[in-house]
Amino acid sequence: MTLARRHFDALIIGAGGAGLNAALQLANANLRVAVVSKVFPTRSHTVAAQGGVNAALANVQPDNWHWHMFDTVKGSDYLGDQDAIEFMCREAIPTVYELEHNGVPFSRLDNGRIYQRAFGGQSQNFGGAQAARTCAAADRTGHAILHTLYQQNIRARTHFFDEYFAIDLISDDEGAILGALILEMETGEPLLIESKTTLLATGGCGQVFRTTSNAHINTGDGMAMALRAGVPLMDMEFFQFHPTGIAGKGMLITEGVRGEGGYLVNKDGERFMERYAPNAKDLASRDVVSRAIVTEVKEGRGVGPNADHVLLKVDHLGEDIVSKRLPGIRESSKIFAGIDPVVEPIPVFPTAHYVMGGIPTDRYGRVVAPIQKGPEEVVPGLYAAGECACVSVHGANRLGGNSLLDILVFGRAAGQDIIKYLDENPNHRPMSEAGVEKAVARLNRWDKRGEGLSVREVRDEFRKVMEDHAGVFRTDEIMSEGVAKVKEIRAKLADVRLTDHSSVFNTARVEALELENMVDIGMSIVLSALERKESRGAHSRPDYPERDDNNWLKHSLYTLEGDQMDFKPVHTKPLTVEPFPPKPRVY
Ligand code: FUM
Repeated sequence: MTLARRHFDALIIGAGGAGLNAALQLANANLRVAVVSKVFPTRSHTVAAQGGVNAALANVQPDNWHWHMFDTVKGSDYLGDQDAIEFMCREAIPTVYELEHNGVPFSRLDNGRIYQRAFGGQSQNFGGAQAARTCAAADRTGHAILHTLYQQNIRARTHFFDEYFAIDLISDDEGAILGALILEMETGEPLLIESKTTLLATGGCGQVFRTTSNAHINTGDGMAMALRAGVPLMDMEFFQFHPTGIAGKGMLITEGVRGEGGYLVNKDGERFMERYAPNAKDLASRDVVSRAIVTEVKEGRGVGPNADHVLLKVDHLGEDIVSKRLPGIRESSKIFAGIDPVVEPIPVFPTAHYVMGGIPTDRYGRVVAPIQKGPEEVVPGLYAAGECACVSVHGANRLGGNSLLDILVFGRAAGQDIIKYLDENPNHRPMSEAGVEKAVARLNRWDKRGEGLSVREVRDEFRKVMEDHAGVFRTDEIMSEGVAKVKEIRAKLADVRLTDHSSVFNTARVEALELENMVDIGMSIVLSALERKESRGAHSRPDYPERDDNNWLKHSLYTLEGDQMDFKPVHTKPLTVEPFPPKPRVY
């Protein structure tokens, strides 16, 4: 079969904030950049980010980047790399001003400055009073940012391949990455993109859980492609459950609600967060609040006919504040919970939201991994940024508002480093034809429809297993069962039947490819979680209830081949300031 081929300086897979901010750097430098996205770019999941982006602008309360850094290191339960965290918190300030200059319509204070709200885990003066660091465009900040970046890319003539699905990375015989095989979803035609550099910016993998705030597109495709290319995934046991998903449904109700003064109550009307986090209360870090909600429900203080959720009270804020600052959550509550939060509290329960782990990179977005089973080094030509990457700035628990920041700062940093790389590596290199054939074979495998369970049946079973065996609280027994069940599901993939969508065969084929990706990611999560025998951040084990810095202050690495686990040190040394040594983490 003769494959159609296109040539670019840079290939970016994923059109969320990280991909688009990287693309903008490259297009503005007059490089040929292709952005491949399985959905129209402005439908990428960045569009769903509600509460805002952190930067120590000090528009509302005193602030500086060093306090932001402290909060992020503490929020990460000391597993974040402090050099990368310092870089991100310093870069936050120019990054937000750059967005403002590019046209992001931030909400405004009366003095005209960018509006900033309080979010969880934020403090003044290294653990003192609550800070207000999250720059917001009402509760639709991601929407405002994504649309602005897309428009700027159109102006800069970035080349978009909309509704194309990436199958696999292609390398040369030495392990340098030289592009990818992609599939045009409408026609089912494969296309080979040969590029001097490739950036994975495919976002998260929340769809591996049954109840999630993530869009259907968040199936971990880039992470799974990296795994198949021999790159391990780092810290995959750390999965964030956002405390306030709409109960039973999972859609996000922004932390900004609590930042504006909303609070949680149990069936007795008690503000229970006062017991779990006496200082920060409802604005404690997300892992703390999620555990508190699950504990309230487990101990019989849940609300509703099944006593299976708690309530988020907003009515006392008044219609004006809700309409001005939180219009999106009012709409979501009406649609998905059937209530108007101006009148009634919102039923909430933790929802799978964000993976702290991912493809290991340095702070320039360069993927750092063993090449062809050799020692760990920078993989030539391969970059990752955004939720699919692990820099690591979030460690064991991410602070709200640091996700939009991460995608923007490291998307930009990757774009800038690619420009340098292209300067030093100006020529195309030949791809490994064996690699191309392997990628084509992965695609062609789904030309036959299989005889076993349908993709949809296997996917539903898998997502339930992940919810039951890798949730907020984990024990050895629960996770060992989880590993066994994910292995069984993996075995079923060999004979899975494409879900019958009658006329839309290509959609069914993409769903099958996504399921393969999700099962590999699921295995990385349950195995890494089983291996880590301590409680840290979002990884909470009643059988190992304490953080154990002597044995576990290290990053985990999961490799697909042989389901291998390995570990590597945390960078505890910042770039210019003194390190923050591990301390008990209280809020
Ligand atoms: O609660 C939120 O608005 C989510 C923000 C985030 O995950 O950073």
